[in-house]
Amino acid sequence: MGVPPFWSTLVSLVFLVLGALCLLVMLAAQGRAQVEDYQGLARYHRWSGWLFVLLFLLMFIFMLARVEEQWEESSARIAMHVALATALLLLIILKVAISRYFPKLRRHMFMFGVSVYLAAFTLVWITAGYYIIWKYEETPYLSHAELPERMLDRELGKQFFIEKCSTCHLLENIMHPRSRQSWETVMTRMLELAAPRITPAEGAQILHYLVETHGPGPGGNDESILDSYCLPCHENRGDILIENYSRSDWRENVRRMRKYGPEIIPEEKVGEIVDFLVRETADSGL
Ligand code: HEC
Ligand code: HEC
Repeated sequence: MGVPPFWSTLVSLVFLVLGALCLLVMLAAQGRAQVEDYQGLARYHRWSGWLFVLLFLLMFIFMLARVEEQWEESSARIAMHVALATALLLLIILKVAISRYFPKLRRHMFMFGVSVYLAAFTLVWITAGYYIIWKYEETPYLSHAELPERMLDRELGKQFFIEKCSTCHLLENIMHPRSRQSWETVMTRMLELAAPRITPAEGAQILHYLVETHGPGPGGNDESILDSYCLPCHENRGDILIENYSRSDWRENVRRMRKYGPEIIPEEKVGEIVDFLVRETADSGL
């Protein structure tokens, strides 16, 4: 039961406006020194109040359905949203009960109303507000710039890549170097395809990993050579950087590796890989 975010945002904004109306009417009715038409105001309050409750129940049901569908641990924001909605349900029930059946408590109603609105306001703004800001800033759904640099972690990205992308792909088929632009395009499409298995935050980590290690250019950066051509099969670099190999040993080795995975080690890269291995093992020998 997926409601497009545009509509759920619109409905929740109407919900907030109705709630605000309720509150304003009561401010006017109970707070002013002189009130002319208390009955009229109370009527307004009641009408907008019941509409507010109706919308809330509607959204609550949709929310429950969505929570049920969700099988991954939800984000802090969503957890807050659900907690506030549950609290709001209880507050509304209490408020309606008091105004109908417990007249002696009615003098506390105003504070009750404020609490209801406080919960409603927070509840809506942590989701609808988020959506509006996202729209307003026109950030692409997933962009490399979405998370602050310091939160991007290549190792984490690699783990997510292995875990999430392998449900549909043989990893070696999707690890060919690409430009940043091209990785962003691919990742956005994959996230849409794989929704909701891969969250935008995980996607950002994967994107970071791929951009850093599977970029284009002559060899990308050095680490990407091992990552791209060797680590798909080998666990770690220590095992394969054998120090006493000569250039011809390395050439022979890479040719053999290529037999195991011709699609991982393209023919035209062999020379470059051998150069890299010779350089790398000579360095660590010092
Ligand atoms: C739910 C299944 C699914 C998951 C999960 C998935 N993909 Fe894909 N991927 C596809 C399908 C289907 C295609 C072919 C259709 C297309 O390109 O849109 C594809 C195509 C691709 C391509 C080739 C695109 C091109 O234009 O050549 C790349 C690269 C790729 N995926 C990378 C990834 C990465 C990286 C991940 C992990 C973040 C991933 N995929 C996760 C289903 C998936
Ligand atoms: C498609 C999988 C695959 C890829 C990719 C791959 N290897 Fe291997 N590698 C193997 C297998 C399987 C063995 C064990 C059998 C053998 O030694 O022939 C191995 C063994 C090795 C050994 C041990 C050889 C020995 O004589 O002890 C070295 C060193 C090595 N690989 C280096 C590399 C390097 C460097 C790369 C990247 C350029 C690489 N491998 C890429 C599959 C792969």
